Amino acid sequence: MAASSAIATAAGAAPVIAIDGPAASGKGTVAARVADALGFHLLDSGALYRLVALKALGAGVPFDDASRLGELATALDVSFGPTGVTLEGNDVTQAIRGEAVAEGASRVAVHPAVRRALLDRQRAFRAPPGLVADGRDMGTVVFPEAGTKIFITATPEARAERRRLQYAERGVVADVAALLAEIRARDARDSARAVAPLVPARDAAILDTTDLKVDAAVDFVLQRYAQRAA
Ligand code: DC
Repeated sequence: MAASSAIATAAGAAPVIAIDGPAASGKGTVAARVADALGFHLLDSGALYRLVALKALGAGVPFDDASRLGELATALDVSFGPTGVTLEGNDVTQAIRGEAVAEGASRVAVHPAVRRALLDRQRAFRAPPGLVADGRDMGTVVFPEAGTKIFITATPEARAERRRLQYAERGVVADVAALLAEIRARDARDSARAVAPLVPARDAAILDTTDLKVDAAVDFVLQRYAQRAA
């Protein structure tokens, strides 16, 4: 077998844990902790949609211009490092976390051209010893063959309160009613879109974290992975 195909086979065989769910469900925290525990790579796919939105805002591209957004997503010059995310060499780790960019991400994500453009970039994260992939369509579209699929959810009220606490940690006072309205709007848009909507994969385990601590959620995912890997 040629060396290049051996590498391709090894990468293709790397296990994937797909963690999907709505905004502020805690999936990002759980995914990072699981990746850390297993020594796996981590894909924060939402960051890619946020980067497209940030780039579009800077370039003056409207969120409904599907073809220009698709081009922009194809050409996106990004890198993910241990200290954060850069866009065209600039550190945008904080800039992509704002609510305006989050809303923009949800808007650009409805366009098939954007989703297509990001597909290979996401799949390229799959490498030995394994990948934890966090998003909306990891288990349904990007890695449908993933051996472990989890759909993490929580009530909109619990998620709005978590978002409020995250802001409070950064010294920002946020109105929980406004956060709740944003979360509901984002849920509606992410779930209703025609392409790769936010739905659990048929073979996903549903994990409701409304009354669950992060440690318990991490343990659930690790146990599920261990069962599948056994
Ligand atoms: O996970 P997040 O909040 O960073 O995601 C921001 C937006 O990006 C989300 O509202 C919808 C979109 N998204 C998506 O459509 N598909 C993904 N796999 C991840 C995010």
